[in-house]
Amino acid sequence: MRSPRSSPLPGRATATAPANIALVKYWGARDLAHALPLNPSLSMTLSACHTRTTVDFSPAPGEDEVWLAPRELAGDETVVIGPTAMTSAVAAADAAAAGDDPARGVPHPEAEQHPESEQHNWRDPGPAFTARVLAHLDNLRRRAGLDPGAGRFRVVTVNSFPSSAGIASSASGFAALTVAGAAALGLPLHLERDAGELSSLARQSGSGSATRSLLGGFVLWPDPAGGDADDPRAVQLHPADHWRLADLVALVDTGAKEVSSLGGHRLAPTSPYFARRLEGLPERLDRVRRALADRDFASLGTAVEEEAIDLHLIAMSSRPPIFYWTAGTVDVLAAVRRLRADGVPACATIDAGPNVHVLCPPEAADSVAARLAEVPSVLSVLRDGAGDGPVLEEALRGEALTQSEESW
Ligand code: PMV
Repeated sequence: MRSPRSSPLPGRATATAPANIALVKYWGARDLAHALPLNPSLSMTLSACHTRTTVDFSPAPGEDEVWLAPRELAGDETVVIGPTAMTSAVAAADAAAAGDDPARGVPHPEAEQHPESEQHNWRDPGPAFTARVLAHLDNLRRRAGLDPGAGRFRVVTVNSFPSSAGIASSASGFAALTVAGAAALGLPLHLERDAGELSSLARQSGSGSATRSLLGGFVLWPDPAGGDADDPRAVQLHPADHWRLADLVALVDTGAKEVSSLGGHRLAPTSPYFARRLEGLPERLDRVRRALADRDFASLGTAVEEEAIDLHLIAMSSRPPIFYWTAGTVDVLAAVRRLRADGVPACATIDAGPNVHVLCPPEAADSVAARLAEVPSVLSVLRDGAGDGPVLEEALRGEALTQSEESW
């Protein structure tokens, strides 16, 4: 244990961290608050869908601030295709998220004076989001040896994908918060050398999938060679350039889901099929690992789609049952089967929501995207693919900060 420091330095850091899509899913925990999983999971880190977060830490006492800058649907990182009318329905939802809905809070009065406010639309994200962010920063502050509640934080966070797209942002969000928060507090952690330790810190946010977003490419969690079962860390199996698989996210419903993934983890053991799932997973994980190592898309697709259906079978047979699928989800699954029947390599996977991630080799991405956009229930298609790990864009401490940066 380190003794609390009496005069911590001010710090400011900005980090970008990617989202990820699980090929073998984390579903069910032996300790939900600390995200200790009941089974190993394996994901592909994404490239276009990411979160950029700036954390300011000031040793002076005061109120913590958490701001969210909602982003419009279009953007150069996230290519969106699909029927215009449908796309604008998503854009309208995003406009509501950007402030037309008074329940989303008021804009920050000084937003324009701050360099990271390029969108000029910081919003108060609401008490639940703010409390989770501050609880995680408390973990980091403890890790830095500071007194609980010492100083104050200001956090500004923006996703490259619209908050209304029905895509989970907790993985990229907590990964970016971990990297930026650790750097602002002066924790001596290096993104590559200490990726395992950073992944462990990210897990303490309660978001298991965030643990995997600390690494690029294909990521396994827990690391079987990682030692401590009560501190599971993530490990990279292959970098992104091992296989630049495409992920085309077919959006069929952009509303908030009724049951969060935390609710799903909690209910998983109530399914009569859950024990059978856990029993069969090592063999499936093995097949996914082999298919990735061999770049064998046919074997990968079979195992990944089987796994996604299995997760939803557990959700649908939990007590009470959880239905994440909508009619649009089933339409996309049928379209993926038609693609395969036509000789186009593609497979589907679905997280805790209705939208479908369609994976394919990079050379098939254009035709898969075009075919998905033709499905009437598809609102739009986000184009993504295998990507690298987080980036620390800026990290300043103490004297490196100008006076105005120090006195926000
Ligand atoms: O990390 P959480 O608590 O949001 O759970 C993630 C659950 C799934 O996305 C469905 C699966 C996964 O492994 O990412």
